[in-house]
Amino acid sequence: MKNKKNYPSEVYLNGNWMPPQEATVSVFDRAFMFGDGIYEVTPFYRGKPFRLQDHLDRLKYCLGEIKIPFDFSILETLMFEVLSRAGLSDSDAAVYIQVSRGAAPRTHYFPDDPKPTFLMYAFPAQLEKFQEKRWKVLVSEDFRWQRCDIKSTALLANTMSNEEAIAGGFDENLLVRDGYFTEGSHSTAFFVSDGTVYTHPEGPHILSGITRKLVLEMCRDLGVAYKEEAFLLNNISEVQEIFLTGTTTQITVVESLHTEGKEIYTSQNGEITARLQEEFARLTRASQ
Ligand SMILES: Cc1ncc(COP(=O)(O)O)c(C=O)c1O
Repeated sequence: MKNKKNYPSEVYLNGNWMPPQEATVSVFDRAFMFGDGIYEVTPFYRGKPFRLQDHLDRLKYCLGEIKIPFDFSILETLMFEVLSRAGLSDSDAAVYIQVSRGAAPRTHYFPDDPKPTFLMYAFPAQLEKFQEKRWKVLVSEDFRWQRCDIKSTALLANTMSNEEAIAGGFDENLLVRDGYFTEGSHSTAFFVSDGTVYTHPEGPHILSGITRKLVLEMCRDLGVAYKEEAFLLNNISEVQEIFLTGTTTQITVVESLHTEGKEIYTSQNGEITARLQEEFARLTRASQ
């Protein structure tokens, strides 16, 4: 069944707080015309941001890659303000930020004097009980572009893939490019084979996940062997555990993997995933 979501009661748009029904942007906004924008989602565990600097750094990197100018000076303050105005300072929540290149007469090339559109809002997030989730996942062809490292609002390939998964009764996709697993439609993928954790190396074919980075740090700290190496779909029979990670996905077990109506993987042994989940829960809830 599809997970229904609500609008927030208030958003911050270009310097003003307002109800979403009053928040409007130009039909010539380049995010509307071209998907010419960047977004970021930062988790707050009971009001405390987790890995905030990493999220800000990625936003800065992505805006830099597509040359959208943006003033970061009051962003952090605003993120706390949006949370408190939404009444979410003591709950689990996330802050959504979107910066587009703004409105300009339609041209493929970038306008000379962009006036970026800045949108931000907070929403409640379910960040508990992730250890209990068991996802049924669909293998899909990765037909996205060659700059998946840019967290662009142009997500049509991701949304088309995920729609197919959800409509088919699955929870997420695992995308495959040239025979190798890249990542999920909105998550990072990890495979455990003979005690070693594998994940796709950073680069243009995946988003550099903040949770991915944390999982690799945890592997290092816990003495779990890992390799930043892409895993072949054809080698799926060598896999004992698969898990997906993300800001709101956290660390979720993949129960089964399906392609062309066949189940090609069933979770066998979740020992390493469970250790990582335990450490993740400890770190995200530390100092609460
Ligand atoms: C395509 C894709 N990969 C990976 C991730 C996970 O990234 P993070 O851990 O920073 O949330 C996301 C998150 O939305 C995503 O959209």
